[in-house]
Amino acid sequence: MWKKWFGKADKNIAEFELDREKMPRHVAIIMDGNGRWAKKRAMPRTFGHRQGVETLKRIVQFASDAGLQVLTVYAFSTENWRRPSSEVDFLMTLFKEFLEQEIDELHRNRVRIRFIGDIAGLPMVLQQTFADAECLTANNPGLIFNVAVNYGGRAEIVQAVRALAMQVKEGEISYDAISEASISDQLYTAGQPDPDLLIRPSGDFRISNFLLWQLAYTEFWFTETLWPDFSVEEFAAAMIAYQKRERRFGGLKR
Ligand code: FPP
Repeated sequence: MWKKWFGKADKNIAEFELDREKMPRHVAIIMDGNGRWAKKRAMPRTFGHRQGVETLKRIVQFASDAGLQVLTVYAFSTENWRRPSSEVDFLMTLFKEFLEQEIDELHRNRVRIRFIGDIAGLPMVLQQTFADAECLTANNPGLIFNVAVNYGGRAEIVQAVRALAMQVKEGEISYDAISEASISDQLYTAGQPDPDLLIRPSGDFRISNFLLWQLAYTEFWFTETLWPDFSVEEFAAAMIAYQKRERRFGGLKR
């Protein structure tokens, strides 16, 4: 079974002519453009979100098959509550539906799903569904699939700072023990490598409060393609572009 699983990664890497030595460990994606995709077809925005789920399914499968360690997707930001309540409700239902339909397949593929963000601020029924999915897949050794829901990068840093301030107050650590590593350890992504590659479809060139701390040295890749049209081929193209970049992390060319 293990051999078969790794064999699949080999096949995908070969098929898309990816360099096995330079695979990104962690890819983050801002899934943008569902609304515009639907508008172009004179359809309601919800139609675009539904199509966005289909893209997500293909991308997770590919990430898992290609042997990535971590895939993080931005599904709902702390700012998205400003949308009409009908759209917010639709999205919450869609997240639940996605899990109900896909969790068994994700589990079979050894994917470990995690929800990052202020999950306590979500409807109770969704919190339960998320907890069940995390629990079921907690020990899976494959792709870590982070789904950011009610997520804000600044809010994430604030909660990390508060947790550390509390430890100082309680005398558990000294203030000068606070370091970049100890802040990273308080983030939702604690223990995971930072993203190597960030993909943003739909023609906008913003971070939109996504993974602010973790993106410090990440390579960015943008495309005009709207998320529902984003394909596995384009995902591979982003990875190939990443493999050609020279990452210096503030140092000099080697
Ligand atoms: C941004 O496009 C997209 C969202 C706010 C929702 C993302 C959600 C999905 C792709 C659904 C699937 C997610 C899961 C986890 C099942 P937009 O609506 O802002 O598009 P626009 O900029 O064209 O208006």
